Amino acid sequence: MSKNSQLRDSFGSKFGVIAAAAGSAVGLGNIWKFPYIAGEYGGAAFLFVYLAFIMAIGLPVMLSELIIGRSSRRNAFGAFKVLAPGTPWRYIGILGVSAAFLILSFYGVVAGWSVQYVILSVQDGFSQKSPDEISTLFTTLIESPIKPVMLQLGFMFATGAIVIIGVKKGIEKYTKILMPVLVLILIGLSIKSVSLEGAKAGLEFLFKPDFSKLTGDGILSALGHAFFTLSLGMGTLITYGSYIKRDNNLINTVISVTVADTLIAILAGIAIFPAVFAFGIEPSEGPGLIFITLPNVFHQMPGGYIFSILFFVLLTVAAITSSISILEVVVAYFMEEFKMVRKSSTVLATILISILGVLCSLSMGVLADYKLFGLNIFDLMDWISANMLLPIGGLFIALFTGWYFGRKKVQEEVANGGNLSGAMLTIFIFLVKFVAPIAIAIVILNKVGLLTFS
Ligand code: PFF
Repeated sequence: MSKNSQLRDSFGSKFGVIAAAAGSAVGLGNIWKFPYIAGEYGGAAFLFVYLAFIMAIGLPVMLSELIIGRSSRRNAFGAFKVLAPGTPWRYIGILGVSAAFLILSFYGVVAGWSVQYVILSVQDGFSQKSPDEISTLFTTLIESPIKPVMLQLGFMFATGAIVIIGVKKGIEKYTKILMPVLVLILIGLSIKSVSLEGAKAGLEFLFKPDFSKLTGDGILSALGHAFFTLSLGMGTLITYGSYIKRDNNLINTVISVTVADTLIAILAGIAIFPAVFAFGIEPSEGPGLIFITLPNVFHQMPGGYIFSILFFVLLTVAAITSSISILEVVVAYFMEEFKMVRKSSTVLATILISILGVLCSLSMGVLADYKLFGLNIFDLMDWISANMLLPIGGLFIALFTGWYFGRKKVQEEVANGGNLSGAMLTIFIFLVKFVAPIAIAIVILNKVGLLTFS
């Protein structure tokens, strides 16, 4: 064991590794973002394209990140410095740390809304209200200059506090307890939703594809979301991979995390769309989908009081196991590249991200007129990070693994605690060398108008 790896924290158990990586993957992306973008871009058609991207691009990029992290035992930036000294590959890491900044800034805002909805649910704040009043409640909350900012800061504080405790005592312990609880609550909600009268239309919307509804924007969003939901493209899993012990089976980790994340997104869809249709709500409602429509659904449902508390607690829990992984990318970078201790690098990263987060929150109200490319600060952070930085990061991570790191080293790294048959290895190398980079490049070039299909 090298001196560096002795000094570094590592995950204590095999389940801990899977729990932490799945805790990172499963979050607002699955429960808040997936339903609303699937609703916007045609339901099942979007779902199928997204699933194709998960399998052809997500899986190989996830394995690449874990290989890079575990073999270098460094943060997202340092990993490339160790594996490819003196080359520009390290800038992938800078791209990743920047993406982490942008993502956590708006992520903390949505998590803050979720905390407010836990409070409102406990106070039974929806039951006396008409659908219009519930919608106004949401709009008033997100446009207000004080409350959502305080909630976002509170959420960021909690994220920072968990990250300070460190990998073993913090990340692993929390995700290990919280993940299984989350899955149970979601299964309960889905059963409830599917048993509602009129649920069938929601299931058809989610599972019966109409590919004529697909647009270039929809395909780019499906690609961006495949990265976002699996926490890929910015070094989160390079950073977590660096805490994984040598004897861990990386293949098992990748498959378990991808399957768990995908099933939970589909489960969230099953929990939401049948209910949305049963109560005559628009699936293309937008980012407010769960916040504006679900309280209506809950308070018309028997047992809705309890379901609404459970749902928003679940959302907040899922958000925090992801936000700690996003913050960890920046913290590990500060610690290792600037020789800072965990505590001060966490405090610094949390403060900087929170400031950007305050701007995201205010862009829903007082700063709403400040726009770039027609997007306010919040939407801009989301769009640039999920639809551009993550896929571009993923493209280079795939190229690095396929062309620079190479088949032999991949095989060696995977063979530590795992096994990839010759044919599987060939498929993996083919995916990272050609399929993932070319597919990502086509989708992005098409979006920016440099490549069109007529
Ligand atoms: N995967 C998380 C979610 O679906 O909510 C969000 C996320 C975490 C994105 C970590 C990117 C990341 F690196």
